[in-house]
Amino acid sequence: MSRRFANRFDGKVALLTGSAATNKDELMGFGGATVWRFLEEGGRGVVITDVQDDVGERSAQQLREAGYDAIYMHLDVTKEDEWQQVVDATMARFGRLDILVNIAGILDPKSILEIEPTVWKKTMEISTVGIFLGTRAVAVPMENSGGGAIINLASMAAKQGSGSYGSAYSFSRGGMLNFSMSAALQLAGMGIRVNTIMPGWVHTPFTDYLYTDPEQSKFRTDRVPLGRWGKPDDIAAGILFLASDDASYMTGAELLMDGGVSAGSVRPANPKGDN
Ligand SMILES: NC(=O)c1ccc[n+]([C@@H]2O[C@H](COP(=O)([O-])OP(=O)(O)OC[C@H]3O[C@@H](n4cnc5c(N)ncnc54)[C@H](O)[C@@H]3O)[C@@H](O)[C@H]2O)c1
Repeated sequence: MSRRFANRFDGKVALLTGSAATNKDELMGFGGATVWRFLEEGGRGVVITDVQDDVGERSAQQLREAGYDAIYMHLDVTKEDEWQQVVDATMARFGRLDILVNIAGILDPKSILEIEPTVWKKTMEISTVGIFLGTRAVAVPMENSGGGAIINLASMAAKQGSGSYGSAYSFSRGGMLNFSMSAALQLAGMGIRVNTIMPGWVHTPFTDYLYTDPEQSKFRTDRVPLGRWGKPDDIAAGILFLASDDASYMTGAELLMDGGVSAGSVRPANPKGDN
């Protein structure tokens, strides 16, 4: 059981993209783990958004049945008008917006030579245009709420080339890191902190096809120094740290949460004895 911090988010309102998978009876994503903890730690309300409307509505319903103030809204993060509608609805319902967590993303496991250009552009658009539009939509409402925090979910892939697949994905995630630094500089004067998390392999709907394939799953587990896949709650701990006042002196930073993968390789050991 993860440690909870009582009342850490008293009165705060959070908006999350790509967060339909918040239902406890189904496999949860980063958004799901984050939302439940945020509300258990005093959060006043959440707006979960995604393009999977059925899943999102079921999740919001379950949150309301648990006594929390939660709404689901459709938000394709590449659509500027939809961002405006969601932020307007958030302000109308709660009168404030304190936290934005950008989670939406897609991955096509193809190489540079194989991938369709339309899919390459879509991957870039969701990762990079999505957080650009979101940052613009929330900045003034957050400033009017007394400041806030934006957390962008990139990936450990953001700082690595892709040897075989996921080239568009890793490129787009690298773009998220760079954008977050500019946003941190430009929004600091508005009282808004912008930070990035770089998760490793975590079992969520995004990676379920890998996790449930014994060969694919073991291939990854063997490369994690801590010896296991991450859980959504592991990453939620980082998201909520960056969203909280505990991170009040952090902006433009990157939090690597990958079980040690990016530190180097541990398995298989080099037969000659070193790495
Ligand atoms: N799970 C991992 O191992 C892992 C590791 C590193 C980074 N990430 C990143 O973290 C993010 C969260 O994924 P997750 O693991 O919680 O899985 P998830 O599948 O629950 O979340 C991703 C969500 O993005 C949504 N989405 C796709 N296109 C969208 C669009 N145009 N507009 C709005 N939403 C859209 C999907 O419907 C999905 O619900 C993804 O961006 C992923 O790239 C995941």
